Amino acid sequence: MRKHLFIGGDWVEAGEYRPLFSPYSGEQIAEVAYADKAEVHRAIKAAEQARPAMASMPAHERAAILERLASKIRDKAEECARLIALEAAKPLKTARIEVERTIATYKFAAEEAKRIHGETIPMDAAPGGEGRVAYTVHQPLGVVAAITPFNFPMNLVAHKVGPALAAGNTIVLKPAGQTPLTALFLAELLQQSGLPAGALNVVTGSGGVIGDCLVTDERIKAVTFTGSPEVGIAIRNKAGLKKVTLELGSNSALIVDQGVELDDAMMTRAVTGAFSFAGQVCISLQRIYVHERLFDEFVRKFVAQTEKLVLGDPLDPQTDVSALIGLRDAERSLQWIAESEKLGAVVATGNRRDGNIVHPTVLLYVHPESKISCQEVFAPIVMINKVSTIDEAIRFVNDSRYGLQAGIYTPDLRTAFAAAEALEVGGVMINDIPTFRVDHMPYGGVKESGTGREGVKYAIRELTEMKLVCFKK
Ligand code: SIN
Repeated sequence: MRKHLFIGGDWVEAGEYRPLFSPYSGEQIAEVAYADKAEVHRAIKAAEQARPAMASMPAHERAAILERLASKIRDKAEECARLIALEAAKPLKTARIEVERTIATYKFAAEEAKRIHGETIPMDAAPGGEGRVAYTVHQPLGVVAAITPFNFPMNLVAHKVGPALAAGNTIVLKPAGQTPLTALFLAELLQQSGLPAGALNVVTGSGGVIGDCLVTDERIKAVTFTGSPEVGIAIRNKAGLKKVTLELGSNSALIVDQGVELDDAMMTRAVTGAFSFAGQVCISLQRIYVHERLFDEFVRKFVAQTEKLVLGDPLDPQTDVSALIGLRDAERSLQWIAESEKLGAVVATGNRRDGNIVHPTVLLYVHPESKISCQEVFAPIVMINKVSTIDEAIRFVNDSRYGLQAGIYTPDLRTAFAAAEALEVGGVMINDIPTFRVDHMPYGGVKESGTGREGVKYAIRELTEMKLVCFKK
């Protein structure tokens, strides 16, 4: 399977191709174009040329294209899920959920395309404003660069492509090096859905080369990126006056208060939050702070559920946890566990690896300076620490460079409100895990977890420019 670049509505042969391997089996699954600077410039030019067609397209037409796309994905849902499982080693059952969410994201984008509007301004509220009528409009920015990660190769692409097209922009998309196939399949489906040539361009290859071209090119008006804080900060430093949306990492935490019933549903939820897609989710549950009265029971039940998870081939519908995206990540995981043990942590289960599969690992009594606690793990490893008060737990949660989402289970409404106020994150989940997300809610972080918000309506705000129109009577 040789995969070309998608530029100006055509499949364009590249100067170079590189093999793509399955993270699970190590087998070659495709040969993918490796764009050079000239090819990236060609993609930007195509997006620039398609700008007028998209900017003048009525909202109902943009919505119809996105609706058609959603129904094409529905028709090919199993094919999409298998592609995600193949290239990302995401277990098929998790990949199927991602496909469902992708359909929802494009449907939300179709709906929001019809709801992009400004407001009237009461100009006479200021002396000198009398005799004027003013309103705002939200106009497309032009060419948007979207740089997407491997962990949700379909839905996190949708969170950039959907809002950008809904708002009437054009796009140059750079998918993650490990997961280009789903993005290229999307290009095919969007073309069949009636998107004008050049409105979406997909360039695959080196993040450094392509990213640098996109972030520094004057024709690009906005960069929307999901990935590591290091790359996000570098993008921000290079992007000049472009709009920049950054969805970065986190070491998301859950607090469990005394008096919470640790029933099967709640424990399943917590275990799913920690180990879904082997922890390679920005809001994966990484740190758990449990009130001392519940600590032993929580640990016992959590470990028992963890040990029931099925490890194996991502294409096997029974598999819960499969390979990490690369060998280096698997090796790093065990090094970080060893480091935490040196600082006093106790392994309750896990701490093994078979190839790229890291066994779901539960660590207890983890020192706050261990990497497992203070950095983003992005692997199936979770720590559970004991706290004597909720204030203490909140202090631990906030003692972090990140702030994406946090969760708290508590039977006490006052504690819930106090935590919602005090937690330094972009989203607080009361009586749920931090890993909760549906695709229309505002999503994004504070501190090194990023800037700006996604969730279709909020992403559209980031990808449009507000203009004031003022009439003097
Ligand atoms: C992410 O990893 O940032 C996305 C999480 C999600 O969409 O569930």
